[in-house]
Amino acid sequence: MNKLNYSLINIFSFFYRLVLRRVFFIFDAERVHEFVINLGEGLGNIGFSKFIERFFHIYDPSLKQKIAGIDFENPIGLAAGFDYNAKLTGFMSATGFGFETVGTITNKPSEGNPKPRLSRLVESGSILVNKGFKNPGVLVVMQNVAGNKFNLPVGISIGQTNSDLSLDEAVGDIVSSFELLEKNGNPFHYYELNISCPNLSGSESFSDPDNLIKILNPIKGLKLKKPLFIKMPINKTNEETLEMLKIISSFPVVGVIFGNLEKNRNNPAIKTEEAFQFKDRKGNLSGKPTQARSRELIKLAYKNFGERLVIIGCGGIFSAEDAYEKIRNGASLLQLITGLIYKGPQLPYQINMGLIYLLKKDGFLHISEAVGVDANT
Ligand SMILES: Cc1cc2nc3c(=O)[nH]c(=O)nc-3n(C[C@H](O)[C@H](O)[C@H](O)COP(=O)(O)O)c2cc1C
Repeated sequence: MNKLNYSLINIFSFFYRLVLRRVFFIFDAERVHEFVINLGEGLGNIGFSKFIERFFHIYDPSLKQKIAGIDFENPIGLAAGFDYNAKLTGFMSATGFGFETVGTITNKPSEGNPKPRLSRLVESGSILVNKGFKNPGVLVVMQNVAGNKFNLPVGISIGQTNSDLSLDEAVGDIVSSFELLEKNGNPFHYYELNISCPNLSGSESFSDPDNLIKILNPIKGLKLKKPLFIKMPINKTNEETLEMLKIISSFPVVGVIFGNLEKNRNNPAIKTEEAFQFKDRKGNLSGKPTQARSRELIKLAYKNFGERLVIIGCGGIFSAEDAYEKIRNGASLLQLITGLIYKGPQLPYQINMGLIYLLKKDGFLHISEAVGVDANT
């Protein structure tokens, strides 16, 4: 590793927190998000990503894994909800991410929930999210990516269209999206089924065991050509989660992601003043408030289903230490969004560098040796 590169990244990280973040945080969060997406897309289109890649890209054999037949150069992924229209796929590998999930995308286009849809709880290290799957629909996204050859693994997250659907309609809606993807072919490497978005209108929950079986049965019937992961809720009890995992593991599902947003506004990671400030605003929380429960559920899943299911850890990853903790509890791959917003685009690089160091320090030659070592403690 080049020492000059390392120093430059640290200077950029400092600059991001001191200047760029302050400027971004003056403006409405959703507008900044759109700006960043368009900037990333533009840079990708003019080939600037090759230049950036020199600084942010890390290759180290200790981080490389083959999971579900997919080669992941490193374990740090961009979670669903950031690049929801697949605009960054040409740019992502330059940023040091090892993979990304596009979406969540639905069968029908959706304008999302009424604004404001994103609010920053800076002291709590969190974003209050009420997007409600704003997206152009699966057909448009498929057109956007048609013929693309991604230079890193890219998945697509599928959820139910955000309108008042009955359970049967919601099942039909989700199955239609998968049918469209499969029928027309697509360049995605994997699928995510998002059954845990807490921001949808009038939806019946697929966390309920009978409903979960109702959605997984027709998906099984499709004999998907790509590996399927399920994005899990974090507000279910351990018993409810185990029941869900038991069902999931009896279907052709490769793995689970723990997890989605925090619904509980009394979460101790939320600072009292901010809880009060946003008490009337709709939405659910990302970042620090998701961290502890996500880790607990990773551990629970690994202990009980680690031999059967791949676990992707997601929730409150802001540093290499946060990432490593999730790996030691059972996660083979990781995803994040909020850390990127608070810490800056150099975060995947910094986490990967930190992971290489932490693995070595503990005597592990490869990340797979560290997965789950703390699950039984
Ligand atoms: C702005 C924003 C939008 C999100 N939208 C989605 C989404 O469309 N689908 C989904 O599965 N998760 C969505 N999430 C949840 C994230 O994927 C992730 O599960 C959660 O934020 C915890 O990770 P983090 O603490 O690293 O942000 C969203 C999160 C944020 C912050």
